[in-house]
Amino acid sequence: MPFTANRDFKHNPRLFVKAEGVYYTTADGQEILDGTSGLWCSNAGHCRISIVDAIKKQSAILDFAPSFQIGSPLSFEFAERLIHMKEGFSHVFFTNSGSESVDTALKIALAYQYSRGSGTRTKFIARERSYHGVNFGGISIGGIAANRKQFNNLLNGVYHICDTHNIKHNAYSKGEPEWGIHLADDLERLVVLHDPSTIAAVIVEPLAGSTGVLIPPKGYLSRLREICDVHDILLIFDEVITGFGRLGTAFASDYFAVRPDIFTTAKGITNGTVPMGAVFCRNGIYEAFMDAPESAIELFHGYTCSGHPLACAAGLATIELYQNEGLFTRSAELAHYFQEAVHSLKGSRYVVDIRNLGMVAGIELESVHNKPTVRALEAFKQCYNKGLLVRATGDTIALSPPLIIEKNQIDFIVDVISMVLRNIS
Ligand SMILES: Cc1ncc(COP(=O)(O)O)c(C=O)c1O
Repeated sequence: MPFTANRDFKHNPRLFVKAEGVYYTTADGQEILDGTSGLWCSNAGHCRISIVDAIKKQSAILDFAPSFQIGSPLSFEFAERLIHMKEGFSHVFFTNSGSESVDTALKIALAYQYSRGSGTRTKFIARERSYHGVNFGGISIGGIAANRKQFNNLLNGVYHICDTHNIKHNAYSKGEPEWGIHLADDLERLVVLHDPSTIAAVIVEPLAGSTGVLIPPKGYLSRLREICDVHDILLIFDEVITGFGRLGTAFASDYFAVRPDIFTTAKGITNGTVPMGAVFCRNGIYEAFMDAPESAIELFHGYTCSGHPLACAAGLATIELYQNEGLFTRSAELAHYFQEAVHSLKGSRYVVDIRNLGMVAGIELESVHNKPTVRALEAFKQCYNKGLLVRATGDTIALSPPLIIEKNQIDFIVDVISMVLRNIS
């Protein structure tokens, strides 16, 4: 079981057998309201018929096509569709997950520096308390000790700036916190320490979800961009959870009006239906690889299932659904109601902070002495038993409901959490 206490799970398994709209159904027939879009995936809700039909249809037309030296029109069509969603970005590279997108982005950054004659730029700067998936690149740049300590062999030349989370200054901020733009200057410190000519890229999640919903302070991301520009360093945004409407815009970079050079996506790209990811590259990156002789492979990278026909069909249907139903706008319109609803939990037992942006919220609980994570995990289990799926990250309850959620369903989320906070020890 991925990221699960296996023995604990086996004592009391939680199994979903069906899903529709914003509800899962468990093996014993209980309905569970999905407060997390599965795992930040099902932005349009579950089992949406147009996506189901597109996958069914495609599986009978072209079930698989090799992706090395051969293509299928659908992958080019989907790539075109995606780059139309993001001005200034000319190409995407298809992967099968967020972790693969992250490692692909790191490799593209290194290869780009090499191709443009800056082969000394091999280091990465990432951030503490970041999550970038579980492949070796991702855990090396990630800022979670537990995700590394069993594995030892990590990428060399990775450094971390400080994280932006600070309850003392920013507790109960609604939206982007006022305090903390200066934390971006930690990047300048590391760049000077290691010399800009050795640094390939800086990678951050514009909004960190998996490490407890950390919202960037006002102006922080712009400041990172400025520092990268001064030193000619690539800026990579990991948008695996923020892509496709979570903040009320197509991508978080649109919300913050900060343009990265490369950004990763996955999850919501197919509404979670078929595993897929895409790495977006700004204009000029692809071209830097095109100096090699025409018969030579320009990028020694790719996956058997890059641009898989079923994933592309699902992705095309997903983007159409997002647009037809105006789900990114809906997300923006619901964000205020969602914000006020979750902040109404202020004052509940154990709550030390509530933070939110777009359709994401984190409710941080005071940890049990010497037993971090135990309290939020207990809250997760009790919410589940009361018909609500939340995510426990550390001692924070994270919420990221499907963008089709209704206001009364948001009220249900808050009511259940409120009840659970009265119950847990
Ligand atoms: C920011 C970020 N990057 C990467 C990943 C990894 O994605 P996956 O689990 O699809 O490999 C995640 C997963 O939650 C994520 O939140």
